[in-house]
Amino acid sequence: MGKRIVVTGGSGKAGQHIIRYLLDQGHDILNLDLIPLPADLEGRVHTLKVELTNSGQVYSALGSHFHLSEPFREPLGLIPDAVIHLAGYSRNMIAPDEETFRCNTLATYNIIEAASRLNIKKIIIASSVTVYGVSYAEGDVDYPSFPVEETVDANPMDTYAISKVCGERVARGFSRRYGSDIYVLRIGRIVAPEEYKEAMFRSYVETPEKWAAHGWAYIDARDLGQMCDLAVRKNGLGFQIFNAINDEITNYERTADFLARICPGIPITRELGAREAPISNRKIKELLGFKEEHHWMKYYE
Ligand SMILES: NC(=O)c1ccc[n+]([C@@H]2O[C@H](COP(=O)([O-])OP(=O)(O)OC[C@H]3O[C@@H](n4cnc5c(N)ncnc54)[C@H](O)[C@@H]3O)[C@@H](O)[C@H]2O)c1
Repeated sequence: MGKRIVVTGGSGKAGQHIIRYLLDQGHDILNLDLIPLPADLEGRVHTLKVELTNSGQVYSALGSHFHLSEPFREPLGLIPDAVIHLAGYSRNMIAPDEETFRCNTLATYNIIEAASRLNIKKIIIASSVTVYGVSYAEGDVDYPSFPVEETVDANPMDTYAISKVCGERVARGFSRRYGSDIYVLRIGRIVAPEEYKEAMFRSYVETPEKWAAHGWAYIDARDLGQMCDLAVRKNGLGFQIFNAINDEITNYERTADFLARICPGIPITRELGAREAPISNRKIKELLGFKEEHHWMKYYE
């Protein structure tokens, strides 16, 4: 049966695709964002205009009806089955660092606190593979080892990734306090369907030596939808961190050969699959049952 799910930041790049996927699985969605959804989704999902750094607005919104009707038809007092929190600044330098930190940490704190106090037992939080510290380092920094798994120390130096680490710690603490399931998705570079034919993906394939920052890995926006659905359905795991990454490396080489050529000397901690992505998705496959549907080679020309 479909769940009642609040999505924050659903009007953004990832959110649109995640919401489409969740609707296809039969879920009922309420979107909390500052801007509207694209036209094709507006008739199917209501967007409440919410400033998530304002805790009063967040509490009020989590107790809201999901649909506007005259009169209202939904029972009063329903709480959502799950919250998927995507909203925030999605990289550095959209805003000054202080604003990035303030918005990302406060919005995440407000959502986790309000959802926990309202007894919502499933919260999914968007973090980022930038927490591994390479993407926005000052200058070239190496990954500590390969494959990059969730147990690797997350010690970034940039404000955006530090804000994500802070969100992860809030999630861990509240999951412990409330005995709830809070799953963190460390999301790779999100690729929307049209982007496989654009310059960035071409560069992934043709000049891979330039793409340490993305870990020679990506997440298809629709496969990210599947991961969110699986995370909503799988109960009882408590606090968890999952790399949200597709299966394979973003060029045509064997992974071990490629890493030996590009990053000689970086420790390899286990045998790599022939074309396994250097940032590993093994945990989300094993614990949530993720099965990739959108391999990049299906769309790349
Ligand atoms: N885009 C990527 O490649 C990528 C990679 C890793 C992680 N992520 C993370 O995934 C999430 C979604 O990323 P995206 O690319 O869809 O971002 P996006 O910028 O396209 O969308 C973010 C949405 O959040 C909303 N928002 C921002 N601040 C808000 C506030 N204070 N109150 C209410 N709404 C607010 C925006 O209006 C926007 O619709 C983010 O948390 C981002 O950090 C993205």
